[in-house]
Amino acid sequence: MRIEIPREVERFGPIMFHDVQKVYELDAGLKHARNESKPKEKSVIRRLSYESLQEIQEQMCIIVPIRNEKIKLIEGVLCGIPHHCQVIIVSNSDRAPIDRYHIEKDALEHVCKFMKKNVIIVHQKDPKLREACEKSGYKFLLNEEGEIKNGKAEGMILSTFLAFLSGKKYIGFIDSDNYFPGAVHEYVQEYCAGFHTSKSDYSMVRIAWHSKPKIVESNLFFAKRGRVSEHTNKILNALISSFTGYGTEIIKTGNAGEHAMTMDLAINLDYSSGYSIEPYHYINMLERFGGILDNPIPAVLKQGIEIFQIESRNPHLHEVKGEEHVESMSMEAMEVIYRSPLCSPSLKQEILEDIYHRGLLAEGKKIQETLTYYPAIVNANLKVFQDVIKNEPYAELLQVDLSNYKHSKASGLQRDLVKGKKINLPESTPKLEAK
Ligand code: GDP
Ligand code: CO
Repeated sequence: MRIEIPREVERFGPIMFHDVQKVYELDAGLKHARNESKPKEKSVIRRLSYESLQEIQEQMCIIVPIRNEKIKLIEGVLCGIPHHCQVIIVSNSDRAPIDRYHIEKDALEHVCKFMKKNVIIVHQKDPKLREACEKSGYKFLLNEEGEIKNGKAEGMILSTFLAFLSGKKYIGFIDSDNYFPGAVHEYVQEYCAGFHTSKSDYSMVRIAWHSKPKIVESNLFFAKRGRVSEHTNKILNALISSFTGYGTEIIKTGNAGEHAMTMDLAINLDYSSGYSIEPYHYINMLERFGGILDNPIPAVLKQGIEIFQIESRNPHLHEVKGEEHVESMSMEAMEVIYRSPLCSPSLKQEILEDIYHRGLLAEGKKIQETLTYYPAIVNANLKVFQDVIKNEPYAELLQVDLSNYKHSKASGLQRDLVKGKKINLPESTPKLEAK
């Protein structure tokens, strides 16, 4: 891959937000390619050889969350994931009246034989996984009936436990409703490119897709970013600006469903439910490591956190799920920013005006609290989790050696730890541009 270096870097305490990076060549050859003029390449474009990307793939788990998707669609997604990655499928498909999960598992195991792919498939409601959550001290994922809750975010958190137990260093997420296997392949390569250039054990790569194809008046139109993203990004940038005092547009991937993290970062972040999980990554990183609230992890302060945003070349095309879906997604993103202890009263006012203006909430109404927060998974005893599931058929590759593992005392949610503490919030917020 040939990729430009980030043009701008915005710093917030130890966190480095890198500007969007453009890809110039999807495949730039092997390590020892001829005709490479090295000195020139040092400047603004980096060439990442196939081998360097493969090295990262070998240490990466790719999580594919599924809920009642077409099997043909999932098959395409699996086909696009580079061979060396460990794939983990967490499905929440129906078990009754038709056992869709059973059909799905059968079909996927069959195609994986042809792909020679090692895939771990689990169901979100698996009783052993439920028991593992309970016994390891992570009941947060369970509902009143004691089952693991529905939801993509909950599936992602559950799969983060499994990815940790696989012993891999990186975890990446790929939605199962992507129509282009080529896009899936590209996203994973871009995750690898980010991690290859990162200097920190705490880093994250987010995909900023280049375009989304739509049919407009019977012509194909390639729309740039989605409407939801535009608003989420604007408010996230306003939040950063309110502390730094400088306007910024650095965040362009507030809602990036396609993202990857180092395992060290993934197990140390708090999560939130629904479609707020992705914007909450940013919020929680700022809350946890931004230096305004306490609880820094010394290694993070030393190494810093690096966030990469990479613009993909393939168009992004997934299942269309309707206008209502888009609105609730946007509201959830707004709620999670609004409820952050870092959100100043003036930014709260800005958020309200923005959602009134867009008709997402009736004028004068308050934002309802609809989201749940989940503490970082280091709060669970991961060794106990492993012990509970160790004899399950899917756990064969989840046997990382934890004999030296020490469970530190659970500390709970960052946002609860700072309750009642005095936080110096900025008095004014740069005015958002009216849309
Ligand atoms: P969008 O692409 O962000 O608009 O959201 P989608 O509805 O397409 O969901 C993203 C991915 O999460 C898809 O692959 C879904 O199949 C999957 N998904 C949705 N709900 C659940 C769930 O409850 N559990 C799991 N494991 N996956 C889910
Ligand atoms: Co989708």
